[in-house]
Amino acid sequence: MNIHIYQSEQDVDQAASEVVIQSINNMPSFKLGLATGQSPVGMYAQLSKAYKEGLVSFDQVTSYNLDEYVGLDRGHPHSFYAFMDQHLFQHVDFRENHIYIPNGCADNLHDECKRYDQLLEREGQLDIQILGIGLNGHIGFNEPGETLHAGTHIVELSEHTRKVNSQYFPSFEQVPTKAVTMGIGSILKAKKIVFIAKGEQKSEVIKKAFTGPINPLCPGSFLQLHPNVEVFLDEDSAKLL
Ligand code: F6R
Repeated sequence: MNIHIYQSEQDVDQAASEVVIQSINNMPSFKLGLATGQSPVGMYAQLSKAYKEGLVSFDQVTSYNLDEYVGLDRGHPHSFYAFMDQHLFQHVDFRENHIYIPNGCADNLHDECKRYDQLLEREGQLDIQILGIGLNGHIGFNEPGETLHAGTHIVELSEHTRKVNSQYFPSFEQVPTKAVTMGIGSILKAKKIVFIAKGEQKSEVIKKAFTGPINPLCPGSFLQLHPNVEVFLDEDSAKLL
């Protein structure tokens, strides 16, 4: 695990985006795992800027998102698809048919999980997986618990996660109670993980995930098992390391 600590959030975004841009430019036909949430938003803005400046193209990049809410279709303003569109897809030259996100509105969600796993299996290792971490230690929507799942599965969102994510919804009640998420096994299969966290409120979970025991009660701690994790932190989130 390579931990890089920067003075400002902007420096974190810049440094993480440089790794992604350089990697894509070295291998244009690139498989990129994407995350939603605030952590990667600044990096997505840097990627969009780089695209506009002609420094990178996503024309041959295929993307795979970690998760989607159950019950929200692509067109829903609070779906993760809409989030990705707002922060990245509409600003760069991704091909529509190169964008994969679990379908939270599939008639049969178990089949949808299988389909997403088969897709990931067929495509092979993702070149980079972008990752953030929840305050409760979740990665993707793999919530803390006694056990974790390797593959894509349906998850009951914890009240904590729903409260945190209610910032994106008009009210807490409107935050979906379930999501479809890639499992820990799929996340750990990526060749490289670009992990981003910022802000003092993440400092406890960063300490727990990176220096504590590997434990399903902190799903992020499983990243300690991955051979190639680049961790981008600001000084506030790194202050307990
Ligand atoms: C997002 C995701 C989540 C977030 C996590 C942190 O697709 O799967 O694990 O990475 O909830 O969210 P932020 O970055 O908003 O603190």
